[in-house]
Amino acid sequence: MNIPFAESYKIKMVEPIRRSNCNEREQWIKEAKYNLFNLQSNQVFVDLLTDSGTGAMSDRQWSEMMLGDESYAGASSYYKLKSAITEITGFPYFLPTHQGRAAENVLFSALIKEGDLIPGNSHFDTTKGHIEFRKAKAIDCTIDEAFDTTLDHPFKGNVDIRKLEKMLSSNPIERIPMIIITATCNSSGGQPVSMQNFREVSKLAKKFGVKVIIDSARFAENAYFIKIREKEYANHSIREIVKEMFSYADGMTMSSKKDAIVNMGGFIGLRDQELFQKASVFNIMFEGFITYGGMSGRDMNALAQGLYEGTEFDYLETRINQVAFLGEMLKAAGVPVQYPFGGHAIFIDAKRFLPQVPKEQFIAQTLAVELYIEGGIRGVEIGTILADRDPETRENRFPDLELVRLAIPRRTYTNNHLHYVAAHIINVWERRNDIKTGYSIHYEAPIMRHFTVELEKI
Ligand code: F0G
Repeated sequence: MNIPFAESYKIKMVEPIRRSNCNEREQWIKEAKYNLFNLQSNQVFVDLLTDSGTGAMSDRQWSEMMLGDESYAGASSYYKLKSAITEITGFPYFLPTHQGRAAENVLFSALIKEGDLIPGNSHFDTTKGHIEFRKAKAIDCTIDEAFDTTLDHPFKGNVDIRKLEKMLSSNPIERIPMIIITATCNSSGGQPVSMQNFREVSKLAKKFGVKVIIDSARFAENAYFIKIREKEYANHSIREIVKEMFSYADGMTMSSKKDAIVNMGGFIGLRDQELFQKASVFNIMFEGFITYGGMSGRDMNALAQGLYEGTEFDYLETRINQVAFLGEMLKAAGVPVQYPFGGHAIFIDAKRFLPQVPKEQFIAQTLAVELYIEGGIRGVEIGTILADRDPETRENRFPDLELVRLAIPRRTYTNNHLHYVAAHIINVWERRNDIKTGYSIHYEAPIMRHFTVELEKI
């Protein structure tokens, strides 16, 4: 008999979750203005809204919490975290921040000015938000293969080197302060970037004198894919791969809520002292003194421990296999899911699931609401609502992909939960032809509208 995959940890503490029925959920989502962010968590049975800050800490992380040093300046927790970051990433300088977007805010304050152009591989929405807030522009140079959900390509997060070179050579170089590589690439489906691609981007950046910054939220999952998919790295350890990835960059921003398996936290890693000093000023203004930057000592301790655990092969193998477990069940039933499966989430291709819903009625949002009503499953729209309006024309941006992301929190749900999720999604798939219309916008914020948007059923 084939040996099934088993988790590399066992459960010591549990949290009850409430079941609900379809009638209750129909009422709740109506009250939430058809925005899944507005639901109360006890109205959700399996919460796949995000893998960010929703993971379960280990017993070792919890024990580190008790050892936190809460001194304002120079806490031992800061030095513990600094040593973990330098050991794992190789960056000699670091600034703690309260989460990933805060790291973006601080670093971009030091690097980006009005009119700048920031190329990268499908920038995450907070990254794009912080770029556009400074009246600069994010330029997407992801490979075209990323936008075909059926195409089998091992590194759909890759930067298209030709697009990047064209972009760098056809614009004034003083307007391009950096290239941002997001690894894994959340917006293209949790897809990894190859080591070869890191190397090529770095070479090109050096030629043009432009910095490379890695948006590192899921750097360890990226390293796992490099080990499994890039032949020369099969015998490298995850930590060796991580070190090499970062060696191609001048700096990193980190949302520690993902691959460092803590509930809150972030940081910036840098190679250059001058940039560190410049960013330190903004850190003090926005986040806190440079030895805590918005984090408690205990949280820095748990983060240091989480960085070690998040870069262990056995943990990553469990993690990526659990995500694929859900993906395989959906794929086997014919549900259109992005392939290969991403590192942190399964992405349903909503355009292929509900081709009859017009794009102006928010296809992926329509599907996400349907999955909630069906099974109390909360995913998230990665489509037109998230893509927001063009900052100049104020027209809706219709992205190539309309996706529903089912993000799997780390070490939180069992495979039975995912089996339950798959069964409900397959039920919706079987009655998909009955879903004919979507939603219109009743209220939206001027930037990052998806968090607070209010919708009406058409
Ligand atoms: N970069 C990437 C690639 C992200 O996925 C996120 C957050 C951030 C930066 C910002 O970090 O949330 O700590 O401020 N992604 C979450 C998600 C929100 O659900 O994918 P943050």
